[in-house]
Amino acid sequence: MSHAFALPRPHVQGLPAVRTFRAFNRDPLAALDHAKATWGDRARFAVAGEHTVLLSDPEDIAEVLVTRAADFRKDVGTRRLQLIVGPGLLTLEGDTWRQRRKLAAPSLKRAHIASYADVMVRHTEEAALDLLAHPEGRDLHAVLMGVTLRIVVECLLGTNLPTDVRVVEHAMADSVAGFAGWQQSWRRFLPGWVPTAPRRRMRRGAEALDAVIRAVIAQRRQDATGNDLLSRLMVAQDEAGLGLDDEALRGEVATMFLAGHETTALALLFALHLLSRHPAERARAEAEIQAAAGDGPLGLDHVRQLPFTAAVITEAMRLYPPAWAVGREALTDLEDLRCGPVRKGTQLIVSPWLVHRDARWHAEPLRFVPQRWIDQPVRERPRFTYLPFGGGPRVCIGNHFAEMEAVLVLATLLRRVRLDVPQAHVLQLRPSITLRPTGAVPVRVTANHRPD
Ligand code: HEM
Repeated sequence: MSHAFALPRPHVQGLPAVRTFRAFNRDPLAALDHAKATWGDRARFAVAGEHTVLLSDPEDIAEVLVTRAADFRKDVGTRRLQLIVGPGLLTLEGDTWRQRRKLAAPSLKRAHIASYADVMVRHTEEAALDLLAHPEGRDLHAVLMGVTLRIVVECLLGTNLPTDVRVVEHAMADSVAGFAGWQQSWRRFLPGWVPTAPRRRMRRGAEALDAVIRAVIAQRRQDATGNDLLSRLMVAQDEAGLGLDDEALRGEVATMFLAGHETTALALLFALHLLSRHPAERARAEAEIQAAAGDGPLGLDHVRQLPFTAAVITEAMRLYPPAWAVGREALTDLEDLRCGPVRKGTQLIVSPWLVHRDARWHAEPLRFVPQRWIDQPVRERPRFTYLPFGGGPRVCIGNHFAEMEAVLVLATLLRRVRLDVPQAHVLQLRPSITLRPTGAVPVRVTANHRPD
């Protein structure tokens, strides 16, 4: 194919590109930091014929995610998530995506999700009791994954599950671990039919998840009067009177499980880890929660009265964005982009990790300072200098849900239990689909409630 324009020379290509590819697989965060420090805001790579541009200038990012969104589709890595959840909002494109987004968006608006606040608090209260009953040897990451999964399962599917929620928990864990084990190794280059162990694990998890979701859909077709998200999605219709068929519903529910539970669990994990290292901030959050709710039950109305607790979450997601990379692929040759020309098929990777840790946008970027969000809220900052939920038409559809959930879960935990991560524990991260810790995060649990 001949091209009418010349491409900028990649910063890394040929043999050194193999080294870079290996470095990205070994330690993606260090490789990201290195790429930005060495080649700047528009680092270009050509690995095995695949062109990638790593973007960390907020205006370049705004162009790709918003102004020129129609010139891109999701990147190749995101598209592969279809292997776990099938087609759904996260991976669909074009008219099908637009129709789905329109149908699903009202159900996730602030007004509609308000009724889920009690579900969020109840599951957290149960988790706090369980932590107090079994304080030894707990892994905070696993505890939080359990809480956010139970919350998303009840908000999506209601309480009347045909199976134990642990079946869903294992199915999700199998599909995500299998996917990561397959994608982040040499196995990725094998043809799809080769039955490697991670691929088998992924399929086992995806099939188990599907079976539960299909059973709930069949059950609900008999009676779709619930207040859960599935019931709402079932009755949603566009102007032409078209709704979602069972296959579409299955895809959306699976997608929301995947997109909506680990990300929130990680935001909470990082917040609690940071608070356990910053006692003054923890005391301030605890005092704020006590002033807002006293010893009474915590609920939706308190969320607005907890600006510092919310700032802790915002700051935790700045330092450790659960969605550490957001990718797009150029649909055609594009000559006139701010970041320079790119050819059709080029992968453009936006990394919240890099932007959030950039001293041009965040003073003393490596310090944990929740107060910065009170002094200058997100809406008063230059756009795309803070983007934990992405941006533009494909911005996270669950962002209000996640923000409400994170504040309510954090506040409930802080008033019930004191969670201390031993000083000797170093948080090591291994980005996969999300930014996760490499191993268990040990925690010491003590009671934190005031005597009645
Ligand atoms: C702290 C928690 C969360 C974080 C950090 C997060 C992050 C993100 C990001 C960065 C994207 C955009 C990806 C892209 O542009 O390629 C996204 C999309 C999405 N998220 Fe979230 N998310 C969170 C919670 C949730 C929750 C709770 C749900 C569902 C209840 C959810 C459902 C989705 C869906 C369906 C999409 C695809 C939207 C579309 O393309 O139309 N997320 N999320």
